[in-house]
Amino acid sequence: MSKNVLIMAGDGIGPEIMEQAENVLRFVNEQESLGLEFDHALVGGASIDAAGVPLTEDALKLAKASDAILFGAIGGPKWESLEIAIRPEKGLLRLRSEMELFGNLRPAMLYPQLAEASSLKPELVSGLDILIVRELTGGIYFGQPRGIRTLENGERQGYNTYVYSESEIIRIGRVAFEAAMKRGKKLCSVDKANVLEVTELWREIMTDLNKEYPEVKLSHMYVDNAAMQLIRAPKQFDVIVTGNMFGDILSDAAAMLTGSIGMLPSASLDKNNKGMYEPCHGSAPDIAGQGIANPLATILSAAMMLRYSLGHGATADRLEAAVSKVLDQGYRTADIYSEGTQKVSTSQMGEAVLNVLKSSN
Ligand code: NAD
Ligand code: IPM
Ligand code: MN
Repeated sequence: MSKNVLIMAGDGIGPEIMEQAENVLRFVNEQESLGLEFDHALVGGASIDAAGVPLTEDALKLAKASDAILFGAIGGPKWESLEIAIRPEKGLLRLRSEMELFGNLRPAMLYPQLAEASSLKPELVSGLDILIVRELTGGIYFGQPRGIRTLENGERQGYNTYVYSESEIIRIGRVAFEAAMKRGKKLCSVDKANVLEVTELWREIMTDLNKEYPEVKLSHMYVDNAAMQLIRAPKQFDVIVTGNMFGDILSDAAAMLTGSIGMLPSASLDKNNKGMYEPCHGSAPDIAGQGIANPLATILSAAMMLRYSLGHGATADRLEAAVSKVLDQGYRTADIYSEGTQKVSTSQMGEAVLNVLKSSN
């Protein structure tokens, strides 16, 4: 039975990295007769330019009807003066929200070949393998009321609402406990329960859920300490579960431990493991158009898509092995370059992955 993959490349480096990921996907699709069919839709700034909105109803319909979505990156200086409600980022947020993709998995794993590229000393990061489980459709990103209002004294005030309901906390908690059961059975829930009631409730519910997963060793940590501990001794963590905004921030920090944000893939899943897959990084306006962006996070996101949503775990394993192989071969985009390795462009990196796949069947 054929399955539909919707490709949304987006803005900035989005189309550059996506071209490589799509080449790789199309190749394994042919080679292994996976029966995947590909469709494309605009999102973000590209959609604003073409249709006036960051996500059209047609694109949303296509996304909902597809079996999985591979997403590049959106945003950029061109659209920064627009108000928040119609900016490129809203296209991504609307996809997440309308499709109820509440479970965001962000694995931060150090490829041993990249120990030199990490910001930390090799001994602090060798063997690093963390999974950040980020709640993706609630919290302060979506809480109401929100906006900018004018007070009686004429002063303007910006406001957002940080809110989580019990059911939202329970469902992301289950994703995290289930993931911990399949890994090292250690879960650290990150909150700010010393200040914010919403995370006081979060902590209480995580503690309750632990009774259903007694084998998992649950700990709690305040987010400020968690940021420090991630940089001080990252290997103490196995699975981290946290809310939308804390997860956004901590996953960028975790990315750097692995050498570059250009290496970090992600999966955003609904309750049936239908999902959207995207690199954790953005549209990188500072390097867009230069052909130097790292496409590996997107290729690794395609691997996660094959595994979680398309039922092709073995092909996902092959893609991940191919990425490891090109690193063995010494190929590096600029963001992960270190002395003694070979600096390559975005397309050369994509071709290197393809070449490994061609020679390993
Ligand atoms: P960014 O992740 O785009 O870039 C941060 C830094 O990392 C830059 O120096 C960039 O060059 C580098 N970088 C990112 N991806 C890279 C890659 N694949 N290879 C090599 N280097 C890479 O974050 P930003 O600059 O804060 O945001 C730029 C735009 O992207 C904003 O509009 C933001 O809203 C958007 N954004 C989108 C997403 C997404 O689409 N999921 C995620 C984050 C940010
Ligand atoms: C991410 C991005 C998005 C987020 C933005 C672009 C809306 O930073 O996917 O990490 O904050 O979730
Ligand atoms: Mn982010």
